[in-house]
Formats: sequence, C-alpha cells, structure tokens
Amino acid sequence: MFHKSLLFSLLLVILSACKPGQKNAAPALTIDPYQYTINKKVIAENGAVVSAHPLASKAGVLILRSGGNAVDAAIATQLALAVVYPNAGNLGGGGFMVAHLQDGKTLALDYREMAPGAAHRDMYLHANGEADTDKSQLGHLSSGVPGTVAGLFASHQYARLPFAQLIQPAIDLAEKGFIITASEARSLNYLQGDLKKYNTVPPVFVKKSPWKEGDTLIQKDLAATLKRIQKKGAAGFYEGETARLIVEEMKRGTGLITAADLKNYTAKYRPPHAFDYKGYKIVGMPMPSSGGLLLHQMMKMIEDRNIGAMGFHSLQAIQLMTEVERRAFADRAEYMGDGDFYKVPVAMLSNDVYLQNRMRNYDPAKATPSSIIKPGELLRAESEETTHLSVIDKEGNAVAVTTTLNNSYGSRTVVGGAGFFLNDEMDDFSIKPGVPNMYGAVGGEANAIKPGKRMLSSMTPTLVLKNGKPYIVVGTPGGTTIPTQVFQTLVNMLEFNMSTEEAVYKPKFHHQWLPDEVMTEKGFPPAVKEAMQKMGYSFSKERGGIGRTECIRVLPDGRFEAVADNRGDDAAEGF
Ligand code: DON
Repeated sequence: MFHKSLLFSLLLVILSACKPGQKNAAPALTIDPYQYTINKKVIAENGAVVSAHPLASKAGVLILRSGGNAVDAAIATQLALAVVYPNAGNLGGGGFMVAHLQDGKTLALDYREMAPGAAHRDMYLHANGEADTDKSQLGHLSSGVPGTVAGLFASHQYARLPFAQLIQPAIDLAEKGFIITASEARSLNYLQGDLKKYNTVPPVFVKKSPWKEGDTLIQKDLAATLKRIQKKGAAGFYEGETARLIVEEMKRGTGLITAADLKNYTAKYRPPHAFDYKGYKIVGMPMPSSGGLLLHQMMKMIEDRNIGAMGFHSLQAIQLMTEVERRAFADRAEYMGDGDFYKVPVAMLSNDVYLQNRMRNYDPAKATPSSIIKPGELLRAESEETTHLSVIDKEGNAVAVTTTLNNSYGSRTVVGGAGFFLNDEMDDFSIKPGVPNMYGAVGGEANAIKPGKRMLSSMTPTLVLKNGKPYIVVGTPGGTTIPTQVFQTLVNMLEFNMSTEEAVYKPKFHHQWLPDEVMTEKGFPPAVKEAMQKMGYSFSKERGGIGRTECIRVLPDGRFEAVADNRGDDAAEGF
C-alpha cells in the first residue's frame, strides 16, 4: 500500500538476556515500517493478533513467531501501539487485560489509572458549584496516574520471552520512524490547535505544513523513554528520569501527579467477572470496569427470550436490546465504581431474579422512558462483601486487552522530553452527581473522586470459553458504547449465527439510559427506526462508526479466524 524510495527493513534484535529455562534465540525477523498492508481478515494455524494498527499487529505476530506466547505478543502489541497509534496506544494511560491460560487459569489484570493523592471530590467545580468539564477532559489536570507500564510488567510473569525483547520493535518504530496512514494524517492535522494549547514544550506531532499519508513519524523522545523502560523495568517509567520529566510537566501545567503518586502506582490482579450463557462461559473485567457486569446483565436479560428467532435487525430484537441496554446503564450510574473504595453490589446486580424483575416493566410494544426506569431496587442489602487487541496462540492462551488514554490523544498533553501523551481519564469519574462525562454517562457517590481511587470504566475485554477452551476473543473502544458493542457482537455470533466478519461489520446501535435516546450508525434499518419512533423512542443524530471491534474466533478445525474492524486502520495478522 505504501511506497518510499528509501526502503528500510527493521531488524528485530533478538537479545541475548534470556530468563532461565526459556527458549533461546529465535531467528531474526523483520517488520517493514515503510511498506505495509492492512489485512482485515486472516485464518491462522499458529497464532493471531488483531489490533488498531497493522504495524502493531505485525509486532505481535513477530513475537509469536519468535517463540513468544499470547501474553508476550499482547505486551509487544501494546508497546508498538504506544508508538504507531498515539491516539490511544499509550504509556501515559491505563487498561485491562483478560486472559485464559493454557493451564486453564483465567486472569483479570487492572492497570487503570488512579486519582492522584492531591485529587479531591470537587476538584472540577467552579466556586459557584458548576462543573468545569474542560479541566476534567483536557490538559494537565485531567490526567490520572498512568497504569500501563505497571500493567505490562505485571502481565509479564505469564510471558515467556524477556521484556527487553518485547519492547524492541516499539523502540525501533519510535527511533527509526514509520510511515503514517491517511487516517493518522487526518487526525494529527485535526489535533494541531489542541497540541499548541495544551503543551508546554511543542511535541513532535506539531507540524507547520499538514501531515499527509506516507509521511514518516520519528519519535526520539519516546524512543529514549522506551529504552529507559527496557533497561530499568517499570522503574524506568515510575522512577528516575521519566518520573522526573512527568513531574516537571505537571509543575509547568499545574497538574497534580507527584513523584510519590508514580512510585505508589500498582497494577492489580482481580478475580475475573465470569458467568454462563447457554453453556458458554463468558469471562470479563470486574470493577473498576463496568464492562463485565453490564455485559452479564444484558446477556441475562435476553437469555430466555429466544432473540435468535426474532432475527437480526428485526424491530423486535433491536427494541428488546435497547431496553436491556437502558436498564443496565441505569444501574451503572447508581451503583458502579471502584470496588476498592465503594461497595458495589455485584452479586445482587447480576442475580437472575433481580434481572428478571428489571424486565418486569418491559413492554415489547412501546418505549419505557428512562424517566421511569430508575436504578434497580436491590432485593436486599448486599451481604459483606480505547484501543482493543485480541491475541491467541496455539498453546491455548487467549488474551483480550483494552487500553486507553480516554479521549483520542488523552489530555492532548505530551510529557516534555518524554514523548508520550498523558491520559484524561479523570473525566471518567463522576465530577458532580448528574453531570454527564464526555460520553454522556452520569454517576454519583459510587464513582466520586477520591485520592488513589480508580475511575469507573466501560472497557469490556472479553473471552468466551466453550468446553473450557477459548472460543471467542473480543473487545472494542468507544466509551460507553463499549459494553453494548461487545453485547451486540456476541449476540450476532451466538444467537444470530453470523460469521465473525458479519458480526463485527454489521451496523450497531446504542442506548445508555441517559440521555434517553437511541444512537445509531450508518446502515441502521430506516424502517425499524421509523417503527421505533412510533413506539416512543427518540433517536440522536446518526453518528460515524460505533466502536472498532477486534475479534478472533476458533474454528471447528482449531484454526483461528481473526477479523479486524473495517471502521479504521485495524489489521489482523497471523501465521
Ligand atoms: O474507560 C472508559 O470507559 C473510557 N475511558 C474508554 C474511552 C474510549 O473507549 C475512547 N474510545 N473511543
């Protein structure tokens, strides 16, 4: 697809430093960052990676070919995304990993950002009590303490190759550069104003003449940061030079993150949120992501309604799914937040009787307005208690990772001298009860800001197991639309018997309780829209693509069908 007179082949350096007992040097393999194609679908026998950028998917497969497992490949893909997909791939953000390992173990790793120690509940309110969403969404004050690097190292215990080897493709891509796609050029051009406004040191992304497809992006500062991580491990980010650069950036821009905040950051393994659906086991992320629980609620609210027989995009099916989505999101607003700080009644919210009760006022003939769908009444008090990548290998390991800066390019602030964007994840907290965040989501006490607390997420990295083995690996970006897109992709596959491509590409829709409207993308059936309007539904303006779903399904013969969304540069690779 791309041509450049100077064709450079990036040589993956196979480093000699191996852990005891691990496979030794694999043959040298290459990625060509100056000439590459975007594959939307592969059928692979040995392993597959689907991510938002072809070079990142290639980095993952290169690691698989070098003897790495799916966890190794997920780490290398995330690091490469931090270079080639600065919109969302990151060092300065956070994410979640859901994995199923060869030995049958399932994992949920939380490396969500944390509120800085000096953060407080009303930090985004003006003196008159009004919310200031500019401050929670843009610039230094919008950043939580980054979790990604801690997460990568926490996941590395399940990997096979040395971290130094997994980070090398990212270093090479940053240092030697890669050519950008048309959509990257467009988004960087769109960003120029914000880059000037929210940066104290002009970052490499600022350019006098417009970016265009085929331009080379070299990121020397970022390469230096990656090398510090390569040399010193997580301390190469949370301590020393990188930490110093982050803290200085915060001081220049009146942000809150301190050296102590960075040093204290920890990634946490948590019990995955798992449930059964018609014989499948669905494994997702627990709090502080609402994703696993919302998916659970939505799947259970349709389980006994024979949605398969209603037909894909039938009025009946869409109306049912809309009502289910509405009810789940009403609960999100009231009850969900970081379980380390707020007692989220997870068991009750996913109780079968509770969910049946939630559907009692469901009427297939008309809309149930959100004004009468309050968050569910708990049966009794609970007793004690934005980019996605999918990877699979032939050993039986499957990894779903969703990672984010929140908004595209996060806070728009690049750490001066360190070359990476900081997140604007603080906006995922409820900055004031009832005030919508950038995705329109509302919340209250459960998701109020507290120092050290993690903001509620919608990210839904998900695995579906069949007979205890990986069957589907799926996830998407898209803010609050994430759980509803994963829900619809799974319903498409498990209930409407669609092919993986159809399940991913077919137009999607979304309802999140408030605002009380159905959001649709191009291709939503106009007759259904009209019929639903007559039933009392409001529709928001049709929007561009909803989500960018990356999905792998294991075929009956054991091969992997890996499908990248056609809503972006997303690419599937395998071998
Ligand atoms: O964690 C969340 O729910 C959001 N920060 C995700 C943001 C996102 O998906 C942006 N992508 N479009």
